Amino acid sequence: MKRVFSGVKPTGHLTLGNYLGAMRRWSTVDQHRADSLFCVVDLHALTVEHDPGRVRRLSHQAATLLLAAGLDPQVCTVFVQSHVDEHARLSYLLECVATDGEMRRMIQYKEKASAERDRGGSVRLSLLTYPVLMAADILAYGTDEVPVGDDQAQHVELTRDLAVRFNQRYGHTFVVPRATHPEVAARVMNLQEPTSKMGKSDDVGPGIVYLLDEPAVVRKKIMRAVTDSGQDVEYDREARPGVSNLLEILAACEGGNPEALAGVYESYGSLKKDTAEAVVELLRPVQQRHKELCADPAYVEGVLRDGAARAREMARPTVDGAYRAIGLLPPA
Ligand code: AMP
Ligand code: TRP
Repeated sequence: MKRVFSGVKPTGHLTLGNYLGAMRRWSTVDQHRADSLFCVVDLHALTVEHDPGRVRRLSHQAATLLLAAGLDPQVCTVFVQSHVDEHARLSYLLECVATDGEMRRMIQYKEKASAERDRGGSVRLSLLTYPVLMAADILAYGTDEVPVGDDQAQHVELTRDLAVRFNQRYGHTFVVPRATHPEVAARVMNLQEPTSKMGKSDDVGPGIVYLLDEPAVVRKKIMRAVTDSGQDVEYDREARPGVSNLLEILAACEGGNPEALAGVYESYGSLKKDTAEAVVELLRPVQQRHKELCADPAYVEGVLRDGAARAREMARPTVDGAYRAIGLLPPA
């Protein structure tokens, strides 16, 4: 059976982008066809300025939302990264295989570091080494496939490079994984700024649909989405980013194809209205289940405890193998 691993960072409230780009497939497809692990990658949330209490709350909320989105702890392993030491243990070894040049070439690092500097802040060293920790997350489990949105493609490519390099230098230790992306909505764009990704942000962004937004808020955000100049509904991500984003969201909700949908609509207004309703219906069961799970925090904690125990067992042999292969003396 294939091994699947993926994760979500508790740096903000989860969005429609997280759901359509990643989480929905984890629950509808991946967990049923593979031996899969889904992780709240809390160590990654420490790479930018953070508030400890908020990270803790968001980690719990993200874990609850993973379950609300349909991950079944009887079928897959749901856990929190910092509960399993193997990630940090392996990350150091991979730092000894990675180069600073390749880290500095990571697009996400360049963007986030320059944004941080523009704000007059300093860049944490962990922001630079973050992709190595991500590689450790993946490689520790002998992962074959990593289901992620488009923005993570470069990080998974780096993970492959590190796995191949380690195996060549020190003997076969890691499975070389590959990224998988959804056919539509692999990069959901901000509704107010359709040339940028819909990312979690600290502000309550009018262009970001959060998974826990009330239906009236979802409708308002989608009805106010920026569309492009021109009248006809056309699917062209370059020339018509706003309308194309709505078509992708609608197609992803309904299981259709954005190009075909473009032919169905004559006005932006009706496209927005249908997209808003489709998103409200998409989120309804997730929000309902989230409410139920919030009433039972002990259940969520139990799932995370069992998940971490299972994950530790799975990761330990591979990470121990890497320690031996790279030349560290095994404890007597
Ligand atoms: P993050 O929020 O960065 O931890 O991302 C968790 C998962 O959601 C990753 O697989 C991302 O690629 C995916 N993701 C995040 N934002 C978007 C987006 N706007 N569109 C599609 N996928 C996304
Ligand atoms: N870097 C990913 C993101 O920002 C989150 C992540 C961390 C991840 N470790 C991972 C995703 C391992 C997949 C596999 O979205």
